[in-house]
Amino acid sequence: MKLSLLGLAMGLVSQVALATSTPPLQDKAAFIDHLLGQMSVDEKIGQLRLISIGPDMPREKIREEIAAGRIGGTFNSRTAPENRPMQDAAMRSRLKIPMFFAYDTLHGERTIFPISLGLAATWDMDAITQVGRTSAIEAAADSLDMTFAPMVDIARDPRWGRTSEGFGEDTYLTSKIGQTLVRALQGKSAAEPDSIMAIVKHFALYGAVEGGRDYNTVDMSLPKMYNDYLPPYRASLDAGAGGVMVALNSINGVPATADTWLMNDLLRKQWGFKGVAISDHGAIQELIRHGVARDGREAAKLAIKAGIDMSMNDTLYGQELPGLLKSGEVTQAELDQAVREVLGAKYDMGLFKDPYVRIGKPETDLKDYYGEDRLHRDAARDVARRSLVLLENRQQTLPLKKAGTIALVGPLADAPIDMLGSWAADGRPEHSVTVREGLRRATDGKARLLYARGSNITGDKAIFDYLNFLNFAAPEIVDDPRPPAVLIDEAVKAARQSDVVVAVVGESRGMSHESSSRTTLEIPAVQRELIKALKATGKPLVLVLMNGRPLSIGWEREQADAILETWFSGTEGGNAIADVLFGDYNPSGKLAITFPRSVGQIPMYYNHLSIGRPFTPGKPGNYTSQYFEEPNGPLYPFGYGLSYSDFELSDFTLSKTALKRGEPLQAEVTVKNTGKVEGETVVQLYVQDVSASMSRPVKELKNFQKVALKPGEARTLSFRLDEDDLKFYNGQLQHVAEPGQFNVQIGLDSQNVQQQSFELL
Ligand code: NOJ
Repeated sequence: MKLSLLGLAMGLVSQVALATSTPPLQDKAAFIDHLLGQMSVDEKIGQLRLISIGPDMPREKIREEIAAGRIGGTFNSRTAPENRPMQDAAMRSRLKIPMFFAYDTLHGERTIFPISLGLAATWDMDAITQVGRTSAIEAAADSLDMTFAPMVDIARDPRWGRTSEGFGEDTYLTSKIGQTLVRALQGKSAAEPDSIMAIVKHFALYGAVEGGRDYNTVDMSLPKMYNDYLPPYRASLDAGAGGVMVALNSINGVPATADTWLMNDLLRKQWGFKGVAISDHGAIQELIRHGVARDGREAAKLAIKAGIDMSMNDTLYGQELPGLLKSGEVTQAELDQAVREVLGAKYDMGLFKDPYVRIGKPETDLKDYYGEDRLHRDAARDVARRSLVLLENRQQTLPLKKAGTIALVGPLADAPIDMLGSWAADGRPEHSVTVREGLRRATDGKARLLYARGSNITGDKAIFDYLNFLNFAAPEIVDDPRPPAVLIDEAVKAARQSDVVVAVVGESRGMSHESSSRTTLEIPAVQRELIKALKATGKPLVLVLMNGRPLSIGWEREQADAILETWFSGTEGGNAIADVLFGDYNPSGKLAITFPRSVGQIPMYYNHLSIGRPFTPGKPGNYTSQYFEEPNGPLYPFGYGLSYSDFELSDFTLSKTALKRGEPLQAEVTVKNTGKVEGETVVQLYVQDVSASMSRPVKELKNFQKVALKPGEARTLSFRLDEDDLKFYNGQLQHVAEPGQFNVQIGLDSQNVQQQSFELL
């Protein structure tokens, strides 16, 4: 009896010991469970709060809140001296749970690379890896642990300003880039000191807002969702992304932030998501205006039940969760699940092992976080030149000679802030090489460069005010107060004295930004007036476009002898543009998004479904699908882009005409550089499922290869297709490859292709 009592007592002791001794750090689940077991309800709720750090916020108050365990992480504070005191405060909190520090590092941190739409135009995964790694290294050195990137929202309506932040209209290309960026940002693991955690956004379908108007609703069939819009998020998560940011929009009537189907059934159950789900800025509060929550209390309840772990810029989780728990409307298990996911992300970022893993010691702080020595200029120049797309080049106007006199005009020719594009992290305009500076350096001592502004970005006072209102710091766009005619006269005078005119026109970066949707895709009228006047001089006219979305430039195409699409090309943009204009680099970029002729054609994307009466040119009124006021089809198709070389494709072969399941099929094609200079091109492979249980796209990108060829050089490329490449989600959402005919198309853009067929048995 005594013995057994003793045994019982010993058992109890060891159980208590088990409950209180910290499990080894290597055992993630046990470590987190143990920590959870020690946390009070308030400490748990604190972990779910993500706070934006603005310049004017009372830092001391924030540190007190952190030390009291009431904040889980911050975003927007981005140097070690700023973040260390906050981490110190966390280390003074009862359980010493580390904070994490996040930021929107989308296309660079200090060194700014081209905007995402430009990165996509490289079709070059090595270049994209370079961007991701460089961004991570710079952001980690800024003491950041997490980025709200990549943004993989498919965008097929260029009126949407955030088109600039994504990788275009195509599911396959976007998925590939998303995966590549996640791997590059996170490196060997998100726990490494020079890695940051990737948070994929905006889950889901934000790019499909109705009318391209930001924050609008999304309504979409399930097959379209599964086939076209969801795969890039899935691919990025499968590549190891640490979490998702939830979209601001509703989907088929349910705001994503309250959508239990999206967040729990699809993301967690079907996809096996184990990361952290973070709301967008203020999105939980917005559930009230969406009309699905009566008040803040209901909004917080809906969000946590939907599986939103962290509340960005939180007030509601902090205010409402205590009461909701007390009343039992939110269960302890629901709270614990959210906290577990936040702690899991912190664990994966290596913060439990070392809360200062990226902050470092005070003695390693940089002297100047904004210094020139922080920049990776060579990488930025290399990637920027790869992102430029040559749209037109009549009579070989380009490349230009570094001789004679060149007139450089246009409101974007000398615009340091615009080089950086939207969401340019901590990129500084004073580091930008503008087009003017790039051309000056390239022509120095060789050619005469005349500069005139020529016009302002816009002549519309209301638009001017709107764009400046968007900016947080200095004026976003500056206006030359002289009358438009005077600006034009000055430019025309420069043009008349020159051998060639280079006009840098398009959008200011704020025009392709969050909350900057447009009703037209045209270049503003004052700039068009400038182009008209320049054309009238009879001098060869090169348009250098800067913009964050496709523009409808049918009229400009008629005026210009050459057009170079440069997006917003980043810190080294001006040098990269000069490299291409003078032929020091042969352009190889290809559009990742269709350029429509006019806004009225939207949505216009290459991989639309087959229809019963496709447009066939013929007699007017022939009852085929068309707009009768202008030519049909795109101005520039997806996948399009010229080079200073010519590339020819041989006829291609398929290894089989009948494919058994489980077997691969090879397509072989030879590409030859028939031009006079070395260059790169992208050979693209598309597939069409000719007859299926549902209408399928007329073509879908399934593979591509970017190849560099010397003049006269030819290379045979082999593409492999598997049953998986032929699968789609059918009406019952089964992922199937249906038997029957498939067409394989190969080309150097999506429109001009050769075709062969095979039968899937
Ligand atoms: C709002 C934007 O929608 C989102 O993309 C961004 O990450 C957050 N603000 C944080 O800056």
